[in-house]
Amino acid sequence: MNISTLKQTAKAMIAPGKGILAADESAGTIKKRLEKINVQSNPDTNLVYRKMLFTTPGIEEFISGVILYDETIRQSISTEQGKSNKIPVPQYLTDKGILPGIKVDQGKAEMVNSPGEHITKGLDGLRDRLVEYRNMGAKFAKWRAVIAIGADIPTDASIKANAKALAEYASFCQEQDIVPIVEPEVLMDGKHDLQKCQEVTTKTLKMVFDELKNHEVILEGMLLKPNMVISGKESSVQASSKEIAQATIETFLRVVPREVPGIVFLSGGQTPDEATENLKEINLIGGPWQLSFSYGRALQEETLKAWAGKEENVAAAQRTFLERCKKVSVARSAR
Ligand code: 13P
Repeated sequence: MNISTLKQTAKAMIAPGKGILAADESAGTIKKRLEKINVQSNPDTNLVYRKMLFTTPGIEEFISGVILYDETIRQSISTEQGKSNKIPVPQYLTDKGILPGIKVDQGKAEMVNSPGEHITKGLDGLRDRLVEYRNMGAKFAKWRAVIAIGADIPTDASIKANAKALAEYASFCQEQDIVPIVEPEVLMDGKHDLQKCQEVTTKTLKMVFDELKNHEVILEGMLLKPNMVISGKESSVQASSKEIAQATIETFLRVVPREVPGIVFLSGGQTPDEATENLKEINLIGGPWQLSFSYGRALQEETLKAWAGKEENVAAAQRTFLERCKKVSVARSAR
């Protein structure tokens, strides 16, 4: 493990004004996204879409890194029409000044004896996969754990099991000089209020940092990718951006050590405008960490619609994408 490499990569991922594009939708998730615009998903159409994102001129000003899916990191793109010579996706991104990253979890499985709760899979064979990804150019990785809020959930047992898996994943990554993005996501689904989200997020992050400590994970060489503290999607009372920012920073000051260089939020089902506004308010309050983004849906939603699977829409869709990247970058730099 080379601590200075880890620190340098983490620093580059949260460079001023920049954040991360999560383009690591699993085969099942990208299928759903493309179906909405009547495009049939397969490795080729998935690449046509993702190539449009990656080749958008100017995104490197706002995007420090892209999280890829296993399918994509193995693909190649030609950047000039009609040219047959192809560049591997991680190489293309690197040449553009963008760090390639890789989702290494393998989705979730139902917890035994706890309906509605899940444990993330993917520790088996992880070390070998990380070596392969590193050789393909990956500089960072992501592992997502999901914590749902419901009548009797989350249970301590499920939070603990997920926290432990996150910490094991993080130490495997650091062993290979790959910066782990540690993503414990408390889901927005449900009728719960902001206070409930705060309570569950606090407990989850506390358990995650306890496990990271147990596994001797170098905090300076990782990034945290959490949910914002926000009202449940079906709650009758929706907190304002200022309330979300207040509760989010209050929570993190309690449980996130200042050695963690950056917090890169997920968007989790917020609209692009909400995710942008909330990030701005969070930055206006500020904290001892860089407060940036690692958005999937909030960066891509409008672009998908503008593209609608049609070649003639590519230029307009890329303008839409660049515009959203810029807005989120401005929000991230609000202070
Ligand atoms: P969203 O921003 O769409 O939540 O995606 C981020 C992500 O990487 C989820 O794992």
